[in-house]
Amino acid sequence: MKLQMVDVVGQYRTIKSEVDQAVHAVLDSGQFIQGKDVGELECAVAGYLGVKYAVACASGTDALQIAMMALGIGPGDEVVTTPFTFVATAETIALLGAKPVYVDIEPRTYNIDPAAIARAITPRTKAIIPVHLYGQPADMDPIMEVSRSRGIPVIEDSAQAFGASYKGRKVCSFGAIGAVSFFPSKNLGCFGDGGMLVTDDVALGEQMRVIDALRACLPG
Ligand SMILES: Cc1ncc(COP(=O)(O)O)c(C=O)c1O
Repeated sequence: MKLQMVDVVGQYRTIKSEVDQAVHAVLDSGQFIQGKDVGELECAVAGYLGVKYAVACASGTDALQIAMMALGIGPGDEVVTTPFTFVATAETIALLGAKPVYVDIEPRTYNIDPAAIARAITPRTKAIIPVHLYGQPADMDPIMEVSRSRGIPVIEDSAQAFGASYKGRKVCSFGAIGAVSFFPSKNLGCFGDGGMLVTDDVALGEQMRVIDALRACLPG
């Protein structure tokens, strides 16, 4: 018996008629960018995660980059994160001219060690990016405690953990911003690349929506 790592065609077949209907409705509407379905998905995701605002974007990588752009992160800044992640986490920090500062992981969960985060903070630290790896949430209580006590925002890299909960609360609802990926192999995959940014700060959400819309015209 052949087992595929991700059976995207098998998944599609189980809901084929619903998907086909939805895709054809979009094709018939002519709204190939944004449109009512995107707005409905943003509302559904925000409601599901228990946050106030969601912005759809092109990928999880874009979500991380836009999140850092909205927080004004750039050259000379440091972002504390884990080395045990997909390359996009550090790549987007470097792309903005900032420095990824790696701290160690916990031996039990392989997620970022909150005590190591506290030790890595310097006056240049502008954000902390924990990654909820393999669907397993990072230890958010001590991470948010460091964030609050040092006044440094957290961006949750939830690319691998859409729908996961930490102590009864959905990941993505703890930090200033949550970054989601809908890459086909992710827990909630789409047909192509896709991502979303979520936040409880409506002004920050609107800023991310503008950056997402204008990004093609911005340097970097
Ligand atoms: C932890 C992590 N962050 C970010 C990303 C980037 O997401 P995307 O592939 O949608 O750009 C991934 C994708 O594999 C990931 O696993």
